[in-house]
Amino acid sequence: MPSIDLNRLVEPDRVHRSVYTDPDIFALEMEHIFERVWVYCGHESQVPKVGDYFTMQIGRQPMVMVRDQDGTVRVLFNRCPHRGVELCGNQRGNTGRGFVCPYHAWSFHLDGRIRAIPLMKGYEGTRWSAENPDCSMRRAARVDSYRGFVFASLVADGPGLLEFLGDARVAFDDMCDRSPLGEVEAVPVCHRVIQHSNWKFFMENQLDALHPSVTHQSTGVPARRVEQRVKAEQGKAPLFFHYLSAFATSFDQWDSVQTVNFPNGHGVLKAYMGLRPTDPDTLEYEALMKQAYGEDKAEAYLSRSIHHVLVYPYLSVQSPLQQLRCMRPVAPNRTLSEIWHFRLKGAPEPIYRRSLWYFNLVNSPATMINADDLENWTRGQWGLEGSKAGDWVSFHRNYGGDTERRGVLYSNNGTSEVVMRNQFRAWKQYMSDALNAGAPA
Ligand SMILES: [Fe+2]
Repeated sequence: MPSIDLNRLVEPDRVHRSVYTDPDIFALEMEHIFERVWVYCGHESQVPKVGDYFTMQIGRQPMVMVRDQDGTVRVLFNRCPHRGVELCGNQRGNTGRGFVCPYHAWSFHLDGRIRAIPLMKGYEGTRWSAENPDCSMRRAARVDSYRGFVFASLVADGPGLLEFLGDARVAFDDMCDRSPLGEVEAVPVCHRVIQHSNWKFFMENQLDALHPSVTHQSTGVPARRVEQRVKAEQGKAPLFFHYLSAFATSFDQWDSVQTVNFPNGHGVLKAYMGLRPTDPDTLEYEALMKQAYGEDKAEAYLSRSIHHVLVYPYLSVQSPLQQLRCMRPVAPNRTLSEIWHFRLKGAPEPIYRRSLWYFNLVNSPATMINADDLENWTRGQWGLEGSKAGDWVSFHRNYGGDTERRGVLYSNNGTSEVVMRNQFRAWKQYMSDALNAGAPA
């Protein structure tokens, strides 16, 4: 294990650039954070039928989520124990009643147990046999789900899923509670984008209320102009204009939006967009919600103040618009992002169209919003890779000016960099646990 002094890398108000660039630190993050914590695999609705599968990375490990014969969702290592070949080569599909390796046709049950090895007699007298557990696909140590969202942890010890999520579980409650049936289903196609930057850039950006007025000004200001013109001409403008015009919010307004920063690096950016117009579609939907939950509960669900919920270290959930983005780090300077959206079960079609509009206008890589963020993160990575350009990344903004109650940090200014300070508090905790555990006695 490389010798790393975390106290010299992460200070309460600044961090050393190497945590974004150093391959040894990246390897430690994979081993001691991503390959230990509960990582989001996918939604149960992505694998509705027996044999349906979805492949993803957990840390550096190729994994597959699959629906077993008895209906259980399994998470297995996507690796044939014979020569190590990935069993499922596609991102998603149906593997029938078992997995068959394309290389030498070893086959496995949907729970990973070996089913058959062709020409088995060639193994007689060797120490390899079907009874050997190494002959089966390996399973994730723990699999659990919350409201249909499936997570796996590659270690048997550590906090359970609910403990890990803590108050960030509101991401999934808020998404599901907005359905009159209390459930969502994944739209099965996601955008996959390689970000040429460290995974932390994305995580920091999600609750960074200081950046939209600058980064997204070129989109927000013209969008607001068009929205106002449409309103003047037609009396009202469709809600999706607001998705972009909301980025024209001033610094002062952003400063009045609160971030709530939980233990484990999770956090919430409170709502800043008005998402409850009074058009007939919204009124029909709200009536369905009241029918399902009663007046008070429906109102509480519809008025929850959330813009993003962050599940550290890899997930950003925009629950009021049913958006979810998942980071899967590839290298210190490369991160695969999966961009998903969901359908509220039992809600009218126009309500789904709103999620689709947001998905395409804001979160898709083809939008002006996401493209501008991506450029910042790439240029950020390049800037930090220059070893003589300066060593520190500053998170001084409003340092000392936040309120802490029972381990939760509340910003008193929406643009406070408490978000990043809180994330590095969790990062340092995860990493120091790991480094201390690995240290000689
Ligand atoms: Fe942004």
